[in-house]
Amino acid sequence: MTLPGHAFFRGRIVPYSEARVGVLTHGLNYGTGVFAGLRAYWNADEAELLIFRPREHFERFLESARLLDMTLPCTPATLTQALVELLRAELHREDCYVRPLAFYADESIGVRLHNLTPEVSMVAMPYGKYLQNDESIHATVSSWRRVDDTMIPPRGKIAGSYVNSAFAKTDAQRAGFDEAIVLNQDGHVSEASAANFFLVKRGTVITPPVTDNVLEGITRRSVMELVARQLGLPVVERSIDRTEITLADEVFLCGTGVQIAAVTRVDHRPIGSGRMGPVVSELRNVFFEVVRGKRAEYRRWCHPVYADAAVVTEHGTAARHEPGKTS
Ligand SMILES: Cc1ncc(COP(=O)(O)O)c(C=O)c1O
Repeated sequence: MTLPGHAFFRGRIVPYSEARVGVLTHGLNYGTGVFAGLRAYWNADEAELLIFRPREHFERFLESARLLDMTLPCTPATLTQALVELLRAELHREDCYVRPLAFYADESIGVRLHNLTPEVSMVAMPYGKYLQNDESIHATVSSWRRVDDTMIPPRGKIAGSYVNSAFAKTDAQRAGFDEAIVLNQDGHVSEASAANFFLVKRGTVITPPVTDNVLEGITRRSVMELVARQLGLPVVERSIDRTEITLADEVFLCGTGVQIAAVTRVDHRPIGSGRMGPVVSELRNVFFEVVRGKRAEYRRWCHPVYADAAVVTEHGTAARHEPGKTS
């Protein structure tokens, strides 16, 4: 992975090499940080980079921070503005992934959440697929259980809790699978290691409720709306038994990294026909048009980076920003 050129760090855009923390940093030692993950999609026709649903991502980011008792001096609007500035500094002309992070920055010993000082950082880099074969994922049901709301709340994107996801993902991949499906404490499906879970049964699209220890995904929310409004199918949130996976017509995962990935086999059993089914296929078509800003009714979900940007060139003159061209 190529490292970013810049970072938003301590309230301003700096060269990435200057965004550094010490090894005693609280968040690094105890996992006391929260993060977000956004994508920005390149629309070649418009020569525009479109950030997908930044307000919703930053709202959840601030809610995750509240769970860790962090008071951050930012709002979804100021974070979106900082991200736009960061992306303009990077001048990317391709799909990107964005990683905002808020962490307790104190360099001190002592596990707690109080009397600590948070810091916010953000980086962006070109990014393609998270799961390479996203039209045909072979998943396994993990032996690891999802962290419970009474342990580390999964509805927050809390850095430390991703050790749970890492156990599930590594064991799945070492066993030859692409991805892990993780059950919650009472044996119902919660989600994958870093994506929400859906199945299709007799024309109904079903996903676990937010009370089954899932991250309340922004993609999940978007998918629920697209399935109902664009595909015209009923969407139901309810607990899902493990064996419903085996008998499903289609299974798919969704998330910012994963986007929409068809799961075609679980623990060596084919799901439905064993190939990507019609609902997932149509949903992927709609989804990729939406995120690239090609569906007018969902353009409100896409925040432009370069539109109307004027930059000061090396020589101090204002110029229309042309992404990818440095003056
Ligand atoms: C555990 C987990 N579940 C679900 C998701 C999907 O959330 P979102 O659609 O907001 O990216 C993610 C992040 O991508 C995640 O880490």
